[in-house]
Amino acid sequence: MNAPPSSTEAPTVPPAPGNGRVAGKTALVTGGSGDLGAAVVRMLADHGAAVANLDRVAPHRPWGRAAVSDWTVDLTDAADVESTVARVVAHHGAPDVLVNAAGIIGRPAPAHEATEDEFDALFGVNVKGTWLATKYTVPHMIALGRGSIVNFSSIHGLTGGANVPLYHATKGAVRLMSKSDANVYGPHGIRVNSVHPGSMRTAMSRSAAERSPLGPQEYYRQLVSGNPLARQGEPDEIAHAVLYLASDESSFTTGTELVVDGGYTAH
Ligand SMILES: NC(=O)c1ccc[n+]([C@@H]2O[C@H](COP(=O)([O-])OP(=O)(O)OC[C@H]3O[C@@H](n4cnc5c(N)ncnc54)[C@H](O)[C@@H]3O)[C@@H](O)[C@H]2O)c1
Repeated sequence: MNAPPSSTEAPTVPPAPGNGRVAGKTALVTGGSGDLGAAVVRMLADHGAAVANLDRVAPHRPWGRAAVSDWTVDLTDAADVESTVARVVAHHGAPDVLVNAAGIIGRPAPAHEATEDEFDALFGVNVKGTWLATKYTVPHMIALGRGSIVNFSSIHGLTGGANVPLYHATKGAVRLMSKSDANVYGPHGIRVNSVHPGSMRTAMSRSAAERSPLGPQEYYRQLVSGNPLARQGEPDEIAHAVLYLASDESSFTTGTELVVDGGYTAH
């Protein structure tokens, strides 16, 4: 019997034991100043990675971790992303990991009430930003012959919804960008996966609830109360999922969607 095709070799180095699950790796995290991105930055650094936080704003509090550096960038600006990634690579070396966590949710409004500026802003950060960070990071991963890209989608990238329809559209796009890039870059040893957080205990989620025409109580009832695990998730519960996808423990996992939602999509 013929051996199954193998376009890329399994890593010969086993995952580092204990707390060093991404030891020796360099990670770029976009949106690392946000609630979920910051949890990812801390988690990766605590597991041995050198981490560059690429955000348009500084983190809310000091990292207290020498392995983390901050870089100011507007992810919707191609020239800015290109030069920032080049400077990060000059500083840290080629990246093993890219986490695209930057995102905005926008104003709740049905499609016919949304403005062109709102559409451009949402697709600019969530879709174009993810694409640009990938575009300028991937050549370095190709040169390395390995890499893991983790894109932040959402449960809203799996289901439709009336509250923030354009946000759903952007997160659906991120989901399929991840699967397509998994196809394109797999032969280079680069894995691409998406994470799909449910309702998390974050500022973004709080502001979405407060601005929802449903009112916060009904908003939480629909997204949280009826779930098998009827609570909001904690940022570290997403960071653990990202840690797995960033590490060599997930070496055979690509093009998949890791849903971390307390069972919301199990209905
Ligand atoms: N919070 C939730 O409940 C939840 C649920 C599902 C998915 N998500 C997704 O998870 C990701 C992180 O969410 P969060 O709660 O940490 O949000 P957040 O608002 O706390 O953080 C987002 C970060 O992205 C940065 N950013 C936005 N536009 C940028 C730009 N043009 N250039 C550079 N940086 C930019 C912001 O400055 C911010 O630090 C997002 O993609 C979000 O859509 C969040």
